Amino acid sequence: MLSKPAETLRDVHPLIRDRWSPRAFDAGKPVSKDDLISVLEAARWAASSNNVQPWRFIVATADQPEAHAKALEGFNVRNQRWAKNAPVLVIVLARKVTDEGAANGIAPYDTGAAVAQLILQATALGLTVHQAGGIEKDKIRAAFNVPEDTDILVAFGLGYQADASVLPDDLAEREKTPRARKSLSDIVYTGAYGEKMRF
Ligand SMILES: Cc1cc2nc3c(=O)[nH]c(=O)nc-3n(C[C@H](O)[C@H](O)[C@H](O)COP(=O)(O)O)c2cc1C
Repeated sequence: MLSKPAETLRDVHPLIRDRWSPRAFDAGKPVSKDDLISVLEAARWAASSNNVQPWRFIVATADQPEAHAKALEGFNVRNQRWAKNAPVLVIVLARKVTDEGAANGIAPYDTGAAVAQLILQATALGLTVHQAGGIEKDKIRAAFNVPEDTDILVAFGLGYQADASVLPDDLAEREKTPRARKSLSDIVYTGAYGEKMRF
């Protein structure tokens, strides 16, 4: 299967090195209940500001075709082309208020951290995740009764990687493009904003 390990100046943990976002999912290989619970637990145990735990997840699995189809409708049409093969679809939400009703502006940060943990756990289990910001938020809010105090952030597919040939031609081609990142000097400053740290 196609792999795209990160090129790093120094070693990083293999889970971080090897994680990437394939769009090719094996529609015929379900995620076990145990593995699904493991990845959700990894999210649950993320750190959050004041331990508010603002993240919420709506999960749909392919063994419940109606629920899966409803979640798939939440992806935009372009993303549906790959998301339809993912045996698990997840919609990621962040509550904008604490349980006490106070504003919680840091909720998206905390929720992103929880998803990052979930993805590393998935990687450890041999699963892959592909996230999508390209989603139909109004549709999701209506279809799943998401309250107004809760932001709809992203959705993602979870499952086992498949050969790129399961994808439409343009996406199969993109699957093969190398992964790229800004350099450390471009993103790490010292002294003041914009003063690049040298590595
Ligand atoms: C918040 C977020 C939104 C994304 N939205 C989309 C999307 O709508 N469609 C898509 O195909 N990929 C989407 N991606 C995947 C990114 O393009 C991908 O993570 C990025 O190119 C880095 O590649 P890598 O994850 O393989 O390292 C998204 C990723 C993130 C984190």
